[in-house]
Amino acid sequence: MRETREVAHHMPPSFDAARRDLARRAREVLESNWLGHATRPAAGLYPHQWSWDAGFIAIGYARYDTARALAELRSLFRGQWSDGMLPHIVFTDGDDSYFPGPSYWGTERSPYAPPRPRTSGIIQPPIHATAALRTYRHAADRDAVLSVLEELMPRLAAWHGYLHRERVRPGIGLVEIWHPWESGMDNSPLWDEALGRIVPAGVRSWVRADLEHAHPDERPTDDDYLRYLHLVDLFRDLSYDPCRIRSATPFAVADVLMNTLWIEANRDLATIAELLGADGSRFGDWADEAAAAMNELLWDDTLEVFVDFDLVADAPICTRVGAAFAPLFAGVPDEGRAARMVRRLHAEVGERLTATTWMVPSFDPAEPGFLPTNYWRGPVWVNVNWVLYQGLCRYGYHTEAASLRASLLDLADRSGFFEHYDPVTGDGHGADRFAWTAALVLDLLFETTGDEARTA
Ligand code: SER
Repeated sequence: MRETREVAHHMPPSFDAARRDLARRAREVLESNWLGHATRPAAGLYPHQWSWDAGFIAIGYARYDTARALAELRSLFRGQWSDGMLPHIVFTDGDDSYFPGPSYWGTERSPYAPPRPRTSGIIQPPIHATAALRTYRHAADRDAVLSVLEELMPRLAAWHGYLHRERVRPGIGLVEIWHPWESGMDNSPLWDEALGRIVPAGVRSWVRADLEHAHPDERPTDDDYLRYLHLVDLFRDLSYDPCRIRSATPFAVADVLMNTLWIEANRDLATIAELLGADGSRFGDWADEAAAAMNELLWDDTLEVFVDFDLVADAPICTRVGAAFAPLFAGVPDEGRAARMVRRLHAEVGERLTATTWMVPSFDPAEPGFLPTNYWRGPVWVNVNWVLYQGLCRYGYHTEAASLRASLLDLADRSGFFEHYDPVTGDGHGADRFAWTAALVLDLLFETTGDEARTA
Protein backbone atom coordinates (compact mmCIF):
# COMPACT_ATOMS: atom_id res chain seq x y z
CA MET A 1 0.00 0.00 0.00
CA ARG A 2 2.76 2.39 1.02
CA GLU A 3 4.56 1.83 -2.28
CA THR A 4 1.39 2.42 -4.30
CA ARG A 5 1.00 5.82 -2.69
CA GLU A 6 4.67 6.64 -3.32
CA VAL A 7 4.42 5.81 -6.99
CA ALA A 8 1.30 7.90 -7.38
CA HIS A 9 3.01 10.74 -5.56
CA HIS A 10 6.10 10.68 -7.77
CA MET A 11 4.32 10.30 -11.11
CA PRO A 12 5.10 13.24 -13.36
CA PRO A 13 1.94 15.26 -14.08
CA SER A 14 2.27 14.47 -17.78
CA PHE A 15 1.76 10.73 -17.13
CA ASP A 16 -1.37 9.60 -18.86
CA ALA A 17 -3.43 6.58 -17.85
CA ALA A 18 -1.60 4.24 -20.22
CA ARG A 19 1.76 5.17 -18.75
CA ARG A 20 0.45 4.79 -15.22
CA ASP A 21 -0.73 1.34 -16.15
CA LEU A 22 2.67 0.43 -17.64
CA ALA A 23 4.39 1.68 -14.47
CA ARG A 24 2.02 -0.36 -12.33
CA ARG A 25 2.71 -3.50 -14.35
CA ALA A 26 6.47 -2.90 -14.18
CA ARG A 27 6.30 -2.54 -10.40
CA GLU A 28 4.35 -5.76 -10.17
CA VAL A 29 7.13 -7.58 -12.04
CA LEU A 30 9.72 -6.27 -9.59
CA GLU A 31 7.54 -7.17 -6.64
CA SER A 32 7.00 -10.71 -7.91
CA ASN A 33 10.77 -11.19 -8.14
CA TRP A 34 11.54 -9.81 -4.66
CA LEU A 35 13.03 -12.63 -2.57
CA GLY A 36 12.74 -10.83 0.75
CA HIS A 37 16.36 -9.68 0.71
CA ALA A 38 17.12 -9.09 -2.99
CA THR A 39 15.51 -9.28 -6.42
CA ARG A 40 16.03 -12.28 -8.69
CA PRO A 41 16.25 -11.47 -12.41
CA ALA A 42 13.44 -13.94 -13.20
CA ALA A 43 11.71 -16.99 -11.74
CA GLY A 44 13.07 -20.33 -12.93
CA LEU A 45 15.96 -19.29 -15.16
CA TYR A 46 17.67 -16.92 -12.69
CA PRO A 47 16.59 -17.65 -9.09
CA HIS A 48 19.48 -15.86 -7.27
CA GLN A 49 20.89 -12.33 -7.18
CA TRP A 50 23.06 -11.28 -10.13
CA SER A 51 25.50 -8.39 -9.91
CA TRP A 52 24.78 -6.12 -12.87
CA ASP A 53 21.10 -7.06 -12.72
CA ALA A 54 21.06 -5.75 -9.13
CA GLY A 55 22.53 -2.44 -10.33
CA PHE A 56 19.95 -1.96 -13.09
CA ILE A 57 17.17 -3.12 -10.77
CA ALA A 58 18.23 -0.58 -8.12
CA ILE A 59 18.10 2.14 -10.80
CA GLY A 60 14.41 1.30 -11.29
CA TYR A 61 13.61 1.10 -7.56
CA ALA A 62 15.37 4.45 -7.09
CA ARG A 63 12.45 6.13 -8.86
CA TYR A 64 9.82 5.09 -6.33
CA ASP A 65 11.28 3.18 -3.39
CA THR A 66 14.63 4.42 -2.10
CA ALA A 67 14.77 1.88 0.71
CA ARG A 68 14.35 -1.01 -1.72
CA ALA A 69 17.06 0.35 -4.04
CA LEU A 70 19.50 0.56 -1.15
CA ALA A 71 18.48 -2.89 0.15
CA GLU A 72 19.22 -4.34 -3.29
CA LEU A 73 22.75 -2.93 -3.31
CA ARG A 74 23.47 -3.77 0.32
CA SER A 75 22.33 -7.31 -0.22
CA LEU A 76 24.63 -7.75 -3.20
CA PHE A 77 27.62 -6.47 -1.26
CA ARG A 78 27.08 -9.17 1.42
CA GLY A 79 28.69 -11.42 -1.17
CA GLN A 80 31.76 -9.24 -1.70
CA TRP A 81 35.12 -10.98 -1.28
CA SER A 82 37.73 -9.65 1.14
CA ASP A 83 39.98 -8.59 -1.78
CA GLY A 84 37.16 -6.34 -3.01
CA MET A 85 35.92 -8.65 -5.80
CA LEU A 86 32.15 -8.43 -6.24
CA PRO A 87 30.96 -11.81 -7.56
CA HIS A 88 28.51 -12.04 -10.42
CA ILE A 89 26.09 -14.30 -8.52
CA VAL A 90 25.19 -14.17 -4.84
CA PHE A 91 23.35 -17.42 -4.14
CA THR A 92 20.26 -17.71 -2.01
CA ASP A 93 20.63 -20.55 0.51
CA GLY A 94 18.39 -23.54 -0.03
CA ASP A 95 17.76 -23.11 -3.76
CA ASP A 96 19.76 -25.67 -5.75
CA SER A 97 17.88 -25.26 -9.00
CA TYR A 98 20.52 -23.19 -10.85
CA PHE A 99 23.54 -24.55 -12.69
CA PRO A 100 26.41 -23.95 -12.08
CA GLY A 101 25.54 -23.65 -8.40
CA PRO A 102 27.78 -23.08 -5.35
CA SER A 103 29.22 -26.59 -5.28
CA TYR A 104 30.38 -26.32 -8.90
CA TRP A 105 32.03 -22.95 -8.27
CA GLY A 106 33.78 -24.24 -5.12
CA THR A 107 34.78 -20.74 -4.13
CA GLU A 108 35.82 -21.93 -0.67
CA ARG A 109 39.15 -22.60 -2.37
CA SER A 110 39.80 -18.86 -2.33
CA PRO A 111 40.94 -17.33 0.95
CA TYR A 112 38.99 -14.20 -0.03
CA ALA A 113 35.51 -15.70 -0.53
CA PRO A 114 33.03 -15.28 2.34
CA PRO A 115 31.72 -18.57 3.82
CA ARG A 116 28.19 -17.12 3.54
CA PRO A 117 26.48 -16.15 1.37
CA ARG A 118 27.83 -18.54 -1.25
CA THR A 119 28.87 -16.87 -4.50
CA SER A 120 30.30 -17.43 -7.94
CA GLY A 121 33.97 -16.59 -8.56
CA ILE A 122 33.84 -14.14 -11.48
CA ILE A 123 32.57 -10.59 -11.99
CA GLN A 124 30.08 -8.57 -14.03
CA PRO A 125 30.16 -4.92 -15.19
CA PRO A 126 30.39 -2.35 -12.36
CA ILE A 127 27.16 -0.39 -12.63
CA HIS A 128 26.81 -0.21 -8.82
CA ALA A 129 28.24 3.24 -8.01
CA THR A 130 26.08 4.62 -10.81
CA ALA A 131 23.02 2.97 -9.27
CA ALA A 132 23.96 4.28 -5.80
CA LEU A 133 24.34 7.85 -7.04
CA ARG A 134 21.06 7.72 -8.95
CA THR A 135 19.36 6.46 -5.80
CA TYR A 136 20.70 9.48 -3.94
CA ARG A 137 19.67 11.92 -6.68
CA HIS A 138 16.09 10.62 -6.94
CA ALA A 139 15.51 10.31 -3.17
CA ALA A 140 12.99 12.53 -1.41
CA ASP A 141 15.17 12.40 1.73
CA ARG A 142 18.74 12.66 0.45
CA ASP A 143 20.25 12.94 3.92
CA ALA A 144 18.88 9.52 4.84
CA VAL A 145 20.54 8.08 1.72
CA LEU A 146 23.85 9.69 2.64
CA SER A 147 24.13 7.58 5.77
CA VAL A 148 23.71 4.39 3.71
CA LEU A 149 26.20 5.69 1.15
CA GLU A 150 28.61 6.18 4.04
CA GLU A 151 28.29 2.44 4.71
CA LEU A 152 28.48 1.48 1.02
CA MET A 153 31.41 3.75 0.17
CA PRO A 154 34.21 1.51 1.53
CA ARG A 155 32.59 -1.45 -0.23
CA LEU A 156 32.34 0.38 -3.53
CA ALA A 157 35.88 1.71 -3.13
CA ALA A 158 37.17 -1.83 -2.47
CA TRP A 159 35.29 -3.12 -5.54
CA HIS A 160 36.78 -0.44 -7.78
CA GLY A 161 40.14 -0.98 -6.10
CA TYR A 162 39.97 -4.68 -7.01
CA LEU A 163 39.13 -3.85 -10.62
CA HIS A 164 41.95 -1.35 -10.94
CA ARG A 165 44.50 -3.52 -9.14
CA GLU A 166 43.66 -6.90 -10.66
CA ARG A 167 41.96 -6.18 -13.98
CA VAL A 168 43.73 -3.16 -15.48
CA ARG A 169 46.88 -4.40 -17.19
CA PRO A 170 49.72 -1.87 -16.90
CA GLY A 171 50.30 -0.21 -20.24
CA ILE A 172 46.74 -0.96 -21.41
CA GLY A 173 44.62 1.10 -18.98
CA LEU A 174 41.41 -0.89 -19.57
CA VAL A 175 39.54 -3.36 -17.39
CA GLU A 176 39.73 -6.88 -18.82
CA ILE A 177 37.32 -9.77 -18.58
CA TRP A 178 38.39 -13.40 -18.30
CA HIS A 179 35.08 -15.09 -19.06
CA PRO A 180 32.19 -14.31 -21.45
CA TRP A 181 29.85 -14.38 -18.44
CA GLU A 182 31.85 -11.45 -17.02
CA SER A 183 30.67 -9.26 -19.90
CA GLY A 184 27.05 -10.09 -19.10
CA MET A 185 26.63 -10.71 -22.86
CA ASP A 186 27.31 -14.43 -22.57
CA ASN A 187 27.05 -15.78 -26.10
CA SER A 188 27.70 -12.58 -28.05
CA PRO A 189 29.44 -13.20 -31.38
CA LEU A 190 32.15 -10.97 -29.90
CA TRP A 191 33.64 -14.02 -28.16
CA ASP A 192 33.40 -16.56 -30.99
CA GLU A 193 37.01 -16.38 -32.12
CA ALA A 194 38.50 -16.27 -28.65
CA LEU A 195 36.33 -19.18 -27.48
CA GLY A 196 37.08 -21.07 -30.68
CA ARG A 197 40.76 -21.21 -29.68
CA ILE A 198 39.91 -23.00 -26.43
CA VAL A 199 40.02 -26.76 -26.49
CA PRO A 200 37.77 -27.77 -23.60
CA ALA A 201 39.20 -30.61 -21.56
CA GLY A 202 38.36 -32.46 -18.39
CA VAL A 203 35.09 -30.66 -17.68
CA ARG A 204 33.25 -32.43 -14.85
CA SER A 205 29.89 -34.03 -15.57
CA TRP A 206 27.23 -31.38 -15.87
CA VAL A 207 23.55 -30.94 -16.63
CA ARG A 208 22.24 -27.64 -17.84
CA ALA A 209 19.34 -26.28 -15.81
CA ASP A 210 18.64 -23.30 -18.08
CA LEU A 211 17.06 -25.50 -20.76
CA GLU A 212 14.32 -26.51 -18.34
CA HIS A 213 13.14 -22.91 -18.42
CA ALA A 214 14.01 -21.59 -21.87
CA HIS A 215 13.95 -22.91 -25.43
CA PRO A 216 17.39 -24.13 -26.61
CA ASP A 217 17.07 -21.83 -29.65
CA GLU A 218 17.09 -18.85 -27.26
CA ARG A 219 20.11 -19.96 -25.23
CA PRO A 220 23.84 -20.58 -25.73
CA THR A 221 24.77 -23.94 -27.24
CA ASP A 222 26.23 -26.93 -25.35
CA ASP A 223 29.48 -26.17 -27.11
CA ASP A 224 29.43 -22.67 -25.60
CA TYR A 225 28.69 -24.13 -22.17
CA LEU A 226 31.58 -26.56 -22.46
CA ARG A 227 33.92 -23.60 -22.92
CA TYR A 228 32.27 -21.55 -20.17
CA LEU A 229 32.76 -24.47 -17.78
CA HIS A 230 36.30 -25.13 -18.95
CA LEU A 231 37.14 -21.57 -17.90
CA VAL A 232 35.36 -21.95 -14.54
CA ASP A 233 37.28 -25.19 -13.92
CA LEU A 234 40.55 -23.43 -14.68
CA PHE A 235 39.78 -20.54 -12.32
CA ARG A 236 38.65 -22.93 -9.57
CA ASP A 237 41.84 -24.99 -9.98
CA LEU A 238 43.79 -21.75 -9.56
CA SER A 239 41.82 -21.06 -6.34
CA TYR A 240 40.41 -17.93 -8.01
CA ASP A 241 43.77 -16.21 -7.47
CA PRO A 242 43.64 -13.19 -9.81
CA CYS A 243 47.39 -13.10 -10.24
CA ARG A 244 47.56 -16.74 -11.39
CA ILE A 245 44.46 -16.40 -13.56
CA ARG A 246 45.87 -13.32 -15.30
CA SER A 247 48.86 -15.27 -16.54
CA ALA A 248 46.99 -18.52 -17.32
CA THR A 249 43.67 -17.50 -18.83
CA PRO A 250 43.20 -18.25 -22.53
CA PHE A 251 40.41 -15.63 -22.61
CA ALA A 252 41.18 -11.96 -21.83
CA VAL A 253 39.28 -9.16 -23.52
CA ALA A 254 39.07 -5.40 -23.06
CA ASP A 255 35.34 -5.03 -23.64
CA VAL A 256 33.65 -1.79 -24.71
CA LEU A 257 30.52 -2.05 -22.56
CA MET A 258 32.45 -3.17 -19.47
CA ASN A 259 34.86 -0.25 -19.77
CA THR A 260 32.10 2.24 -20.52
CA LEU A 261 30.29 1.29 -17.31
CA TRP A 262 33.62 1.28 -15.42
CA ILE A 263 34.35 4.86 -16.53
CA GLU A 264 30.94 6.21 -15.59
CA ALA A 265 30.94 4.31 -12.28
CA ASN A 266 34.30 5.85 -11.40
CA ARG A 267 33.02 9.33 -12.09
CA ASP A 268 29.92 8.56 -10.02
CA LEU A 269 32.01 7.14 -7.19
CA ALA A 270 34.14 10.30 -7.19
CA THR A 271 30.90 12.29 -6.81
CA ILE A 272 29.72 10.05 -3.96
CA ALA A 273 33.08 10.54 -2.22
CA GLU A 274 32.68 14.30 -2.60
CA LEU A 275 29.16 14.17 -1.13
CA LEU A 276 30.63 12.36 1.86
CA GLY A 277 33.43 14.89 2.21
CA ALA A 278 36.06 12.31 1.20
CA ASP A 279 38.78 12.41 -1.44
CA GLY A 280 37.62 10.48 -4.50
CA SER A 281 40.09 11.94 -6.96
CA ARG A 282 41.67 8.54 -7.69
CA PHE A 283 38.35 7.35 -9.15
CA GLY A 284 38.29 10.36 -11.46
CA ASP A 285 41.86 9.51 -12.49
CA TRP A 286 40.88 5.90 -13.23
CA ALA A 287 37.98 7.13 -15.36
CA ASP A 288 40.27 9.47 -17.31
CA GLU A 289 42.84 6.71 -17.76
CA ALA A 290 40.25 4.29 -19.19
CA ALA A 291 38.58 6.93 -21.39
CA ALA A 292 41.93 7.86 -22.93
CA ALA A 293 42.74 4.17 -23.46
CA MET A 294 39.39 3.55 -25.12
CA ASN A 295 39.94 6.41 -27.53
CA GLU A 296 43.46 5.20 -28.22
CA LEU A 297 43.02 1.43 -28.46
CA LEU A 298 39.33 0.68 -29.03
CA TRP A 299 38.23 3.30 -31.57
CA ASP A 300 37.80 1.86 -35.07
CA ASP A 301 38.03 4.62 -37.62
CA THR A 302 36.50 2.52 -40.41
CA LEU A 303 33.55 1.10 -38.48
CA GLU A 304 33.14 4.48 -36.72
CA VAL A 305 32.42 2.83 -33.38
CA PHE A 306 34.40 1.40 -30.47
CA VAL A 307 35.42 -2.26 -30.74
CA ASP A 308 36.63 -4.82 -28.21
CA PHE A 309 40.27 -5.88 -28.02
CA ASP A 310 41.40 -9.48 -27.62
CA LEU A 311 44.41 -9.28 -25.28
CA VAL A 312 45.46 -12.89 -25.90
CA ALA A 313 45.45 -12.60 -29.70
CA ASP A 314 46.63 -8.98 -29.43
CA ALA A 315 44.03 -7.94 -32.01
CA PRO A 316 40.82 -5.93 -32.21
CA ILE A 317 37.49 -7.76 -32.40
CA CYS A 318 35.71 -6.06 -35.30
CA THR A 319 32.32 -7.67 -34.70
CA ARG A 320 29.32 -5.40 -35.19
CA VAL A 321 27.38 -5.35 -31.94
CA GLY A 322 24.92 -2.87 -30.46
CA ALA A 323 27.14 -2.31 -27.43
CA ALA A 324 29.69 -0.68 -29.74
CA PHE A 325 27.73 2.57 -29.33
CA ALA A 326 27.79 2.42 -25.50
CA PRO A 327 30.74 4.81 -24.92
CA LEU A 328 28.38 7.74 -25.52
CA PHE A 329 27.00 6.88 -22.06
CA ALA A 330 30.28 7.75 -20.35
CA GLY A 331 31.19 10.76 -22.48
CA VAL A 332 34.15 8.88 -24.00
CA PRO A 333 34.22 10.14 -27.63
CA ASP A 334 34.76 13.79 -28.52
CA GLU A 335 31.93 15.60 -30.33
CA GLY A 336 33.34 14.69 -33.75
CA ARG A 337 33.54 10.97 -33.03
CA ALA A 338 30.14 11.06 -31.33
CA ALA A 339 28.61 12.62 -34.46
CA ARG A 340 30.13 9.87 -36.60
CA MET A 341 28.79 7.22 -34.20
CA VAL A 342 25.29 8.66 -34.34
CA ARG A 343 25.42 8.85 -38.16
CA ARG A 344 26.46 5.22 -38.13
CA LEU A 345 23.66 4.37 -35.72
CA HIS A 346 21.20 5.87 -38.18
CA ALA A 347 22.68 3.82 -40.98
CA GLU A 348 22.80 0.58 -38.98
CA VAL A 349 19.53 0.89 -37.13
CA GLY A 350 17.44 3.73 -38.48
CA GLU A 351 17.49 2.56 -42.07
CA ARG A 352 17.28 -1.18 -41.43
CA LEU A 353 14.63 -1.37 -38.75
CA THR A 354 12.49 1.63 -39.49
CA ALA A 355 9.28 -0.32 -40.04
CA THR A 356 8.11 -0.22 -36.45
CA THR A 357 11.16 0.17 -34.31
CA TRP A 358 14.16 2.26 -33.57
CA MET A 359 15.88 0.00 -31.13
CA VAL A 360 19.38 -1.32 -31.24
CA PRO A 361 19.79 -5.09 -31.65
CA SER A 362 22.60 -6.88 -29.84
CA PHE A 363 24.12 -7.99 -33.18
CA ASP A 364 23.96 -6.48 -36.64
CA PRO A 365 20.96 -7.94 -38.56
CA ALA A 366 23.00 -7.74 -41.78
CA GLU A 367 25.55 -10.25 -40.48
CA PRO A 368 25.17 -13.92 -41.47
CA GLY A 369 25.20 -15.13 -37.83
CA PHE A 370 22.33 -12.86 -36.81
CA LEU A 371 19.68 -14.80 -34.85
CA PRO A 372 16.77 -12.55 -33.84
CA THR A 373 15.64 -14.67 -30.88
CA ASN A 374 18.91 -16.15 -29.60
CA TYR A 375 20.11 -14.40 -26.42
CA TRP A 376 23.00 -12.02 -27.34
CA ARG A 377 23.22 -12.97 -31.02
CA GLY A 378 20.54 -10.58 -32.25
CA PRO A 379 17.74 -9.70 -29.82
CA VAL A 380 17.13 -6.26 -28.40
CA TRP A 381 18.10 -5.96 -24.73
CA VAL A 382 16.59 -3.19 -22.68
CA ASN A 383 19.69 -2.54 -20.56
CA VAL A 384 21.98 -1.86 -23.53
CA ASN A 385 19.31 0.34 -25.12
CA TRP A 386 18.92 2.20 -21.82
CA VAL A 387 22.68 2.86 -21.86
CA LEU A 388 22.45 4.11 -25.46
CA TYR A 389 19.46 6.30 -24.61
CA GLN A 390 21.44 7.98 -21.81
CA GLY A 391 24.38 8.42 -24.16
CA LEU A 392 22.30 10.07 -26.88
CA CYS A 393 20.85 12.46 -24.29
CA ARG A 394 24.32 13.25 -22.98
CA TYR A 395 25.50 14.44 -26.40
CA GLY A 396 22.29 16.35 -27.15
CA TYR A 397 20.80 13.92 -29.71
CA HIS A 398 17.36 14.34 -28.21
CA THR A 399 15.35 13.34 -31.27
CA GLU A 400 17.13 10.00 -31.54
CA ALA A 401 16.96 9.53 -27.77
CA ALA A 402 13.22 10.25 -27.68
CA SER A 403 12.63 7.83 -30.52
CA LEU A 404 14.65 5.10 -28.79
CA ARG A 405 12.84 5.68 -25.51
CA ALA A 406 9.40 5.69 -27.13
CA SER A 407 10.20 2.40 -28.92
CA LEU A 408 11.33 0.74 -25.70
CA LEU A 409 8.21 1.84 -23.84
CA ASP A 410 5.97 0.71 -26.69
CA LEU A 411 7.78 -2.62 -26.80
CA ALA A 412 7.19 -3.29 -23.10
CA ASP A 413 3.61 -2.07 -23.34
CA ARG A 414 2.88 -4.31 -26.30
CA SER A 415 4.89 -7.43 -25.53
CA GLY A 416 5.46 -7.37 -21.75
CA PHE A 417 8.65 -7.33 -19.68
CA PHE A 418 10.80 -9.92 -21.39
CA GLU A 419 14.47 -10.69 -21.04
CA HIS A 420 14.99 -9.80 -24.70
CA TYR A 421 12.99 -9.12 -27.85
CA ASP A 422 13.09 -10.02 -31.51
CA PRO A 423 14.18 -6.73 -33.12
CA VAL A 424 12.11 -7.40 -36.22
CA THR A 425 8.79 -8.59 -34.76
CA GLY A 426 9.07 -7.05 -31.29
CA ASP A 427 8.01 -10.36 -29.71
CA GLY A 428 9.45 -11.16 -26.28
CA HIS A 429 11.84 -14.10 -25.75
CA GLY A 430 13.93 -15.66 -22.99
CA ALA A 431 12.55 -15.17 -19.48
CA ASP A 432 9.19 -13.48 -19.04
CA ARG A 433 8.68 -10.99 -16.16
CA PHE A 434 12.36 -10.07 -16.30
CA ALA A 435 13.34 -7.69 -13.51
CA TRP A 436 15.77 -5.26 -15.17
CA THR A 437 13.46 -4.79 -18.14
CA ALA A 438 10.74 -3.69 -15.70
CA ALA A 439 13.17 -1.55 -13.67
CA LEU A 440 14.61 0.30 -16.65
CA VAL A 441 11.19 0.80 -18.23
CA LEU A 442 10.21 2.44 -14.95
CA ASP A 443 13.29 4.63 -15.06
CA LEU A 444 12.49 5.65 -18.65
CA LEU A 445 8.89 6.38 -17.70
CA PHE A 446 10.10 8.81 -15.08
CA GLU A 447 12.72 10.38 -17.35
CA THR A 448 12.06 14.00 -18.24
CA THR A 449 14.76 14.78 -20.75
CA GLY A 450 13.31 13.05 -23.81
CA ASP A 451 9.93 13.51 -25.44
CA GLU A 452 8.31 13.81 -22.00
CA ALA A 453 10.07 17.14 -21.54
CA ARG A 454 8.62 18.50 -24.73
CA THR A 455 5.05 17.62 -23.80
CA ALA A 456 5.28 18.47 -20.08
N1 SER B 1 23.95 -15.23 -17.57
C1 SER B 1 24.40 -16.55 -17.28
C2 SER B 1 23.29 -17.52 -17.35
O1 SER B 1 22.60 -17.51 -18.29
C3 SER B 1 25.27 -16.68 -16.09
O2 SER B 1 25.60 -15.50 -15.49
O3 SER B 1 23.04 -18.33 -16.53
